[in-house]
Amino acid sequence: MKVAVLGRGNVGGGLADLWETGGHEVTRIGREGGDVSDAETVVVAVPGAAIAEALDNVRGIERKTVIDATNLIGVDPPAGFSSNAEFVKARTNGPTTKSFNINFAALYDRIQEARSTPSNLWCGDEEARQVVEQLNRDAGYEPVYAGPLENAAVQGNFLKLVFAINQGGLADSFIEWRLPINSESMLEEDSGASDGHGD
Ligand SMILES: NC(=O)c1ccc[n+]([C@@H]2O[C@H](COP(=O)([O-])OP(=O)(O)OC[C@H]3O[C@@H](n4cnc5c(N)ncnc54)[C@H](OP(=O)(O)O)[C@@H]3O)[C@@H](O)[C@H]2O)c1
Repeated sequence: MKVAVLGRGNVGGGLADLWETGGHEVTRIGREGGDVSDAETVVVAVPGAAIAEALDNVRGIERKTVIDATNLIGVDPPAGFSSNAEFVKARTNGPTTKSFNINFAALYDRIQEARSTPSNLWCGDEEARQVVEQLNRDAGYEPVYAGPLENAAVQGNFLKLVFAINQGGLADSFIEWRLPINSESMLEEDSGASDGHGD
């Protein structure tokens, strides 16, 4: 599959590495923007507050299948929307999903060490199911459907529970997914305090 990732940091760059290993053709686009008209799927992995600017900077995204991986930490979604994913859909008019916003990017290179295939949530449009589930599996995750795109805000808020679980300690069966400092890094990203590399 031809995939374009907007944001080539921890998430965009990390997923690009995984998907390239799986045989996909990935174009990595940073804040300078670019042309995604060649891509079958566009993955948005920029700081949550930069969603509008990121979309402004790309050409050819109309009607594309988009996966929104952003989180809104300490910032609101664009005015009139309850989530970045719904904002994306309003801009592109294409099949839209939210996925890859919960699992820590710092663990991408340890997915294969897990005792069982880790799950990864996605919510969004049925027309995008095949694409988002394939990209989940090809990254090493078992996709778990979390409802229609209207659930994107709830899926974003679920991250608060993940942070709390990580900070409060996990049961033994989950210990391999514990990463004490990464939650802090994710919290700092959208405030601009992080170096953006999550470690
Ligand atoms: N880190 C995690 O574990 C994790 C997990 C799930 C979801 N998330 C979410 O995923 C998103 C990306 O996180 P990350 O950790 O990958 O961040 P990151 O490492 O800081 O990478 C951010 C990327 O976004 C680009 N960018 C910044 N401002 C932009 C703008 N105005 N327009 C276009 N591109 C812009 C940067 O471009 P340059 O390369 O040009 O600087 C960089 O490539 C965030 O919304 C975060 O909350 C993070």
